[in-house]
Amino acid sequence: MEIRSVAVIGGGLMGSGIAQVTARAGVRTVVVRGSGGPIAKLREKIEKALGSELERGKLTAEERDFTLANLVWGDAIDQAAECDLVIESILEDIALKRALFEKLDGLARSQTIFASNTSTLRIGDLAAATGRAERFLGMHFFNPPTAMKLCEVIPAKETTAEVTDTARAFVLRVNKTPVVVRDAPGFVVNRLLVPYLLDAVRLLEEGVAGLGDIDTSMQLGAGLPLGPFALMDLIGLDVCLEMSKNLYAAMQGPRLSPPALLRKLVNDGALGRKAGRGFYDYSQKPPVPVRGLGPRHVVQASDRPAVGRGAME
Ligand code: NAI
Repeated sequence: MEIRSVAVIGGGLMGSGIAQVTARAGVRTVVVRGSGGPIAKLREKIEKALGSELERGKLTAEERDFTLANLVWGDAIDQAAECDLVIESILEDIALKRALFEKLDGLARSQTIFASNTSTLRIGDLAAATGRAERFLGMHFFNPPTAMKLCEVIPAKETTAEVTDTARAFVLRVNKTPVVVRDAPGFVVNRLLVPYLLDAVRLLEEGVAGLGDIDTSMQLGAGLPLGPFALMDLIGLDVCLEMSKNLYAAMQGPRLSPPALLRKLVNDGALGRKAGRGFYDYSQKPPVPVRGLGPRHVVQASDRPAVGRGAME
């Protein structure tokens, strides 16, 4: 089956990025916010993001216009239901996602393929909210979608081979690299990444080093482009907390349980870059580590990542 149109539901970091990726690849893309609210706001956000890519020389004016011409601004999920493929990217909350898919199932044509961009929920549990488990799978993009090349394609038990092949072909068409992964907790990337990120929070809680020094260590010692705290801020601390809770519920294990500091930051609204503050304070240029997050005795003097600055700006 050829995908001629896609709907992206959810206007956050991921939904707005995925919509840019598909529209830029020439696919008619209907964008719908998951939570009501004016679509004009989302339109403004995507136009601004494209404008900034243009300024940074990441795309030409023709490419920007082409992308915008492929975007359709949807006010209601009925418009999403008309597409060949729906990619859901709303909050990482199983009840909200299941309710959305249940509603969509009643509206969409029977051939429409449903995909979730969930980070850690079981695809089978989401598919079960619909009567089309054989046309349901995970399509897990990475943050920011416009830059990251991977998409995990996750067939659940009942997903047909034809639907998996269609999704793989679609991922290639939108210029990403697909990997097919079984419906196991955290798939591949988050199964490996989340315990590592949570371990970094525990290192900070234990006072092993300051957060800037932990980031610098992983950049210079392990050759990673971003340290764990800068990466958590980029992902969103609320998303990190949900991933921790979901993986802990699925697999137990002390490394997966949500650290107290992560819970506290989310409670305080310090959600990372999108909130202007998380482990780092983004009102400063370059961003600086928020003081006082580790135990008092942690040395803070070098708490400014020397190598992280480029990636943080
Ligand atoms: P976000 O917090 O930036 O955006 C969430 C979006 O959900 C909102 O913009 C809104 O459109 C929608 N929403 C909010 N409240 C809602 C409600 N009550 N009902 C329905 N929709 C509602 O989140 P983000 O980061 O875009 O995450 C979206 C999905 O993508 C989640 O499932 C997340 O696990 C997954 N994901 C996130 C990644 C990341 O690095 N942040 C990477 C890959 C997947």
